[in-house]
Order: sequence, then structure tokens, then C-alpha cells
Amino acid sequence: MLVHPVPVLSTSRLLLKPLELADAQALQETFPRWEIVRYLNAHVPWPYPSDGALRHLTDSVLPAIDAGTEWHWSLRLHTAPARLIGVVSLFDTPGNNRGLWLAPEWQKRGLMGEACQCINRYWFETLGRPVMQVPKAIANRGSCRLSVREGMHIVETTFSEYVSGRLETQVWQLTREQWMANTGILSGPVEATPYTHERHDDEQRGHPGRVIGREL
Ligand SMILES: CC(C)(COP(=O)(O)OP(=O)(O)OC[C@H]1O[C@@H](n2cnc3c(N)ncnc32)[C@H](O)[C@@H]1OP(=O)(O)O)[C@@H](O)C(=O)NCCC(=O)NCCS
Repeated sequence: MLVHPVPVLSTSRLLLKPLELADAQALQETFPRWEIVRYLNAHVPWPYPSDGALRHLTDSVLPAIDAGTEWHWSLRLHTAPARLIGVVSLFDTPGNNRGLWLAPEWQKRGLMGEACQCINRYWFETLGRPVMQVPKAIANRGSCRLSVREGMHIVETTFSEYVSGRLETQVWQLTREQWMANTGILSGPVEATPYTHERHDDEQRGHPGRVIGREL
């Protein structure tokens, strides 16, 4: 399988930086808040353990990036690039292709809409995927508004287990054709610069790691 290394991406206000082991502490400090987790999948442990972010990175995120099946970015403002304020992810998982969260103090400013435009483009244009599907709790009004604004439509209604319990869920879908019609592109490469990540533990122990800093 062709492995696409995660590139640095950029929008007018946001830097999207590939998630790495060095983000564990910032994730641990920023992520475990009820406003963020309540509508996330029940796989998120709650109460969040003190090593939750580190385990998430080492057990799930970094192996999947290395396998070329997931792409994860931390979100940072260009004006404060040292501070992680959220995460966006893409998954090659049928029925669940995108995940996102933003610290509450940065919500409702259009930032996630901006980040989604960027990673949707990466999904359809760089990765060439034909369809994006995203499940979300109907009660998650912000997330549903995001999908409406993106021109997604509902293809399935079901129930799923969330951190806050069993909730009615809608699966929203956007096809590549719809995305192109909405955005009027193909319009060129999305990454800002190739990215060289810090070597993580497995690589330091001599295991094969992900491809580093390769141009797409
Ligand atoms: C969902 C989430 C990422 C939205 O981020 P955001 O930066 O606030 O989104 P935007 O500012 O781009 O807003 C998108 C739309 O949602 C609306 N919106 C945002 N939060 C909302 C809320 N709590 N209630 C109602 N509408 C909301 C905005 O007004 C905007 O609507 P518009 O298109 O009519 O202008 C954010 O609320 C979040 O991180 N939630 C916790 C994690 C989560 O639930 N992730 C999604 C799992 S499916």
C-alpha cells in the first residue's frame, strides 16, 4: 500500500501539524473536558486516565499513521503555534472517515469549518478517496451544522454508544463529485511544507518507522 506521510497543512488562521509523541502532554492538558468528549465515541475512556493521551498516541494514532490508514493533525493558530487547541483526523475506516475536536474557548469562530475545508481537500484530492462518511450524534448541534455547511447529506440513522451514553446517530456523507461541485476545484496542492517528525520510541529501538518528510 502507498503510505502518505502526514504533511504540514495551513489555512488562513490555522497551522495543521502532524500529531506526534511530543504532543502527549498538550493533549493530556487540553482534551479531557466534558464539552469535548460527551459526543465522542465511547471508546474514549472516561474519566480520562492520567496516561490517556500518551496511550492514545502510542497504541493507536502513531501505529495507524505508520500503517498509512490514518492521518492526524494538531490544530494551532498561526498567531500562537506553540499551543495545541484541537485535533483533526482522517481514517480509512468504512463509515467513519473523519474525527475532530476543538477546545471550547476556540469554538464557534469558524475555525473547524476552516480546518475541515483543508482536510476534506486532502482526503479527496491528495488521497483520492471517492467518499467521506462521518457519524455524529444528532444532539451534537455544532458538528451537524458543520456537515450542513459542508454540503453533506444524511445516508443512515442509527444508534451508537458515546461517552455520554447511547444516542441517536446520523451518518453524513459527501462524495468527491459533490465536494468538487461545492468547492469548484481541483485547484492545486494543499500542503504547506513537508514535515520531519521527531523519531518516536519504536524507531529509536530500531523498528521500521513511518516514512519521514517525504514529498507527496
Ligand atoms: C463540533 C466542533 C468541532 C465545531 O467546531 P467549531 O469551530 O465551533 O465550528 P465552526 O465555528 O466552524 O461552526 C460550524 C457551525 O456550527 C455552529 N455551531 C458550533 N458550535 C455549536 C453549538 N454548540 N451549538 C449550535 N451550533 C454550533 C456554528 O454556529 C456554525 O454554524 P453556521 O454554519 O450556521 O455558521 C466543536 O463544537 C467541538 O470540538 N465539539 C466537541 C468535539 C465533538 O463533538 N466533535 C465532533 C464529533 S462528531
